[in-house]
Amino acid sequence: MVFNFNFIFMFMKNEAENKKLLKSEKKERKMKNESKKLKEETEKTRNKTQENKDRNIIQEGSVKISVDESVFYNPFMEINRDVSSLAVGALGSVEGLGQLNACDGMAASGIRGLRYLIENDNIDSVTFVDGDEQACNLIKKNIEENLLLNLEGSKKTEVVCDDINHHLYRGGKRYNFVELDPFGSPVPFIRAALLNLRGSKIGILSVTATDTAVLCGAHSKACVINYGAKPMHNSICHEVGLRILIADIVRTAAPMHLGITPLFSISKRHYMKVILLVNKSAKKAYESMSNLGFVSMCQGCMNIETYEKPHIPTKCNTCGENLDWAGPLWLGPIFDETILKKMKLLNQEREYRNKKEIESLLKIMIEESKMPAFYYDLHAIADHFSIPTPSFKPIMNELKKKGFLVSRTHFDPTAIKTNAGTKEIREIIDKIDEDRREKKGNKDKNRQKREDDNEKETGSKKEQNKVIN
Ligand SMILES: C[S@@+](CC[C@H](N)C(=O)[O-])C[C@H]1O[C@@H](n2cnc3c(N)ncnc32)[C@H](O)[C@@H]1O
Ligand SMILES: [Zn+2]
Repeated sequence: MVFNFNFIFMFMKNEAENKKLLKSEKKERKMKNESKKLKEETEKTRNKTQENKDRNIIQEGSVKISVDESVFYNPFMEINRDVSSLAVGALGSVEGLGQLNACDGMAASGIRGLRYLIENDNIDSVTFVDGDEQACNLIKKNIEENLLLNLEGSKKTEVVCDDINHHLYRGGKRYNFVELDPFGSPVPFIRAALLNLRGSKIGILSVTATDTAVLCGAHSKACVINYGAKPMHNSICHEVGLRILIADIVRTAAPMHLGITPLFSISKRHYMKVILLVNKSAKKAYESMSNLGFVSMCQGCMNIETYEKPHIPTKCNTCGENLDWAGPLWLGPIFDETILKKMKLLNQEREYRNKKEIESLLKIMIEESKMPAFYYDLHAIADHFSIPTPSFKPIMNELKKKGFLVSRTHFDPTAIKTNAGTKEIREIIDKIDEDRREKKGNKDKNRQKREDDNEKETGSKKEQNKVIN
């Protein structure tokens, strides 16, 4: 499947015009709230990091490390490292992969690679790479302390102070697992990682992106430049962004005859993470490319449609309003159910601080792994149509009763995934609201009747008393 990128720019122009007309104040307010939240979280992270600097010792999972004020460590990424380490453990079930020889590409304190190595049996070695000398010295110190404590030096480690691209291209070492955890966008490092993984028939690429403002469409042009795709800046922007990231990796991998299969994906706070199976096969590369496409969302009825070919209509089929659109993006599955289930079991065995949160996160992910792409944010729908905010359970039950697939989604706590459209969802919301009003009406009527009866009773008692007196 080949995409004409002029097409993107042509639509960008139309889309910019549409946007001017259709941007409502509500959306602006929501976005402002989101960026306020992000600022608050960054501030919290800064404070927490300051606390850690003062304390200097961090315990995460089975690893204890020293942190140094000159080397990056973000305590709010602990759950990212938790689920990543669980995913590494679950990779033991991937046929043909075998034991892992990993590269922790941007290692900083070494916490991530150390956790992978110490918490999982299916990993033989980790090479820690960081371009910063102070980081490399700290990693060496942390390896010494942890391996002495936990493994008596039985697993292999190496620390390389180098630019990650240089190391992966020219370092002379081949890996079957590459971790990329940069500041911001991972795009500049994807090609080198894939070329290195190409040395194995089958390998794993694990990537974190923290340039979510770009992937979520707050800087639409930057997304076109960096990821070769038009994003969306609306209620489904997180899933759109994650799928744009996967699509970019798929397009980089295909000319190297590498096929990409997502095993695990997460979008949380300010980051997106994907763990991908990389197969050396022209056939698989073509299959991966065939999973790229586009998505549209109606500005009027909020209906979502996906397209395998770049033929997006400009008006909605249901209500005739203008459509916003995004892509090219990945339309295939973003989870592997077997991996998720294995991760869930491993989480039950481990004593992570975030154990409970991970349990419910994985439960939702297992449900959503069977669902179509994208979701409907019920709060956004209520806002858009100025209707009361609906509650989840009755809507999900009604959709199920009508034979639709439905689940919650980890992307958004106020959203549902379903194969129903907004028309069906609106009908259910309206019906529930109608029933609620009717019930309330009946209740009011009953109350009124009781009050009238009481009044009548006291009235007749007074009359009786008058007669007696
Ligand atoms: C976000 S931090 C990594 C955090 C770490 N993986 C963790 O989980 O705590 C990014 C690290 O990448 C390093 N870095 C940035 N650009 C690099 C490059 N081109 N090559 C190697 N290391 C790089 C920085 O020195 C920094 O330590
Ligand atoms: Zn519509």
